[in-house]
Amino acid sequence: MSRINREIQSQPLYVQTTNMDQVNNFSGTTVWFTGLSGAGKTTISQVVEQVLRSEGYRVERLDGDIVRQFLCKDLGFSKAERDENVRRIGFVAHLLTRNGVIVLISAISPYRDIRAEMRQNIGQFTEVYVNACLETCEKRDVKGLYRKARTGEIKNFTGITDPYEPPLNPEITCYTDYESVDESAAKVIQYVKQRMH
Ligand code: PPS
Ligand code: ADP
Ligand code: MG
Repeated sequence: MSRINREIQSQPLYVQTTNMDQVNNFSGTTVWFTGLSGAGKTTISQVVEQVLRSEGYRVERLDGDIVRQFLCKDLGFSKAERDENVRRIGFVAHLLTRNGVIVLISAISPYRDIRAEMRQNIGQFTEVYVNACLETCEKRDVKGLYRKARTGEIKNFTGITDPYEPPLNPEITCYTDYESVDESAAKVIQYVKQRMH
């Protein structure tokens, strides 16, 4: 076995596969939208994606609802399963980020400890707190899930029967109780562009 092979194999598996900040001289960034269901994560990240793509940036979006139909089909909503969901998303985000992609993640990701782990692992990391109060989210009830959570049809629902730990020091906060979608998206777009230059 060559010296290089020996060195690679003596490292932990996660490091072997992902511990390169950039490849091909590109570094992208991961923008992690966290917030209650209905706060606006998906809506804002869709607008950010559209605008940045139209300006020539390479962008990928990983949305909790979509990821859970494919990569995380086997997972539910216990803390352990949410953490696993976030770790899988973070793993993909890191691979894309080190190849120059702007990765937009919209996942509730309710726990501070796992978000901190992602920040540490991914390196190029921007946390966006999509902040709307529970009352607003419940009034919006975009998918009718709050109603089901209130009647007990859905268990472990974030904000109702499961915790949400707001970020303590996010790079950006979107106050979607009173900001327009375009105002919220503009904050993120401006920040990301600065980071990419
Ligand atoms: S997490 O906590 O990061 O693992 O969640 P995420 O992968 O973002 O999935 C959240 C979406 O799943 C739907 N859903 C629920 N959310 C919260 N709690 C419970 N129990 C639940 N059951 C289903 C819901 O559509 C979430 O999407 P958003 O866009 O946040 O509404
Ligand atoms: P999430 O993905 O966090 O569950 P969604 O994006 O699905 O939330 O839903 C958010 C809802 O709130 C949408 O109906 C959207 O039009 C509305 N909304 C109002 N103001 C904003 C804002 N500033 N940013 C994002 N969404 C907003
Ligand atoms: Mg969503």
